[in-house]
Amino acid sequence: MFDSLKLPDIPDKQCSILRGRSRTRPMICVVEENGVRAVVKDFSTGRFLFRNTVGRFLVWREAKAYKRLQNIKGIPALYRIIDGLALVIEEIPSTNLESLEKETKLPDKFFNALKDLVDRYHKRGLVHCDLKRAPNTLVGHDGLPYVIDWGASISEREFRFFPLNLIYQRFLLDDHMAIIKLKLRHAPEAVTLEEIRRYNRRSGAEKLIRAIRDRLRDILQKVA
Ligand SMILES: Nc1ncnc2c1ncn2[C@@H]1O[C@H](COP(=O)(O)OP(=O)(O)OP(=O)(O)O)[C@@H](O)[C@H]1O
Ligand SMILES: [Mg+2]
Repeated sequence: MFDSLKLPDIPDKQCSILRGRSRTRPMICVVEENGVRAVVKDFSTGRFLFRNTVGRFLVWREAKAYKRLQNIKGIPALYRIIDGLALVIEEIPSTNLESLEKETKLPDKFFNALKDLVDRYHKRGLVHCDLKRAPNTLVGHDGLPYVIDWGASISEREFRFFPLNLIYQRFLLDDHMAIIKLKLRHAPEAVTLEEIRRYNRRSGAEKLIRAIRDRLRDILQKVA
């Protein structure tokens, strides 16, 4: 699928740009071939050093995660990788949670489905690590949740030895905390007291790890 797609052709293809070119973030656009639509996340438009280090690394990480997550309802399919620099991913007709008005309420059902989805990919041995960022969860036109943007995800296998296994446990918890955070915004009545307690009880260690990770990401983006 999308076998003939080449990076330099993308701007000329029937393509609508969701996010334009930038030096440190991928260009995001929608392409269509034989009636099938896909989102292209393209790092090739970034600066040389950025695209060949961070860009290639993130494409490789994200592709690896999508391969592991194949056939989970709620995770789009990866159609292909172009030149190690762009991902071609099934388009989910949807709105992301960030674009949704803060006041827009979502039914309880949506968050139950999101929790099931998170449990399902955890069973495949992956944690997302960036679920609290609202643009990474999509509300499908079918009313169901979809999780995208797997570049920061980590796998249980890679983190199996001490002390990484402890970090993995933290991030597992973090994915669940992210659901509570999103739920507080879009379905506050559905948040249980127990969830509020858990959310407020996030430990210092967890905050520290998260701060380090965010800092690392900032540095990576600055060096390139
Ligand atoms: N498969 C998809 N189907 C529909 N929309 C998508 C898809 N992939 C990405 N998008 C849209 O593009 C936006 C950005 O995608 P993504 O999160 O993968 O990129 P990003 O560089 O991490 O952006 P951000 O930093 O905003 O999270 C999403 O919030 C969503 O609106
Ligand atoms: Mg994202």
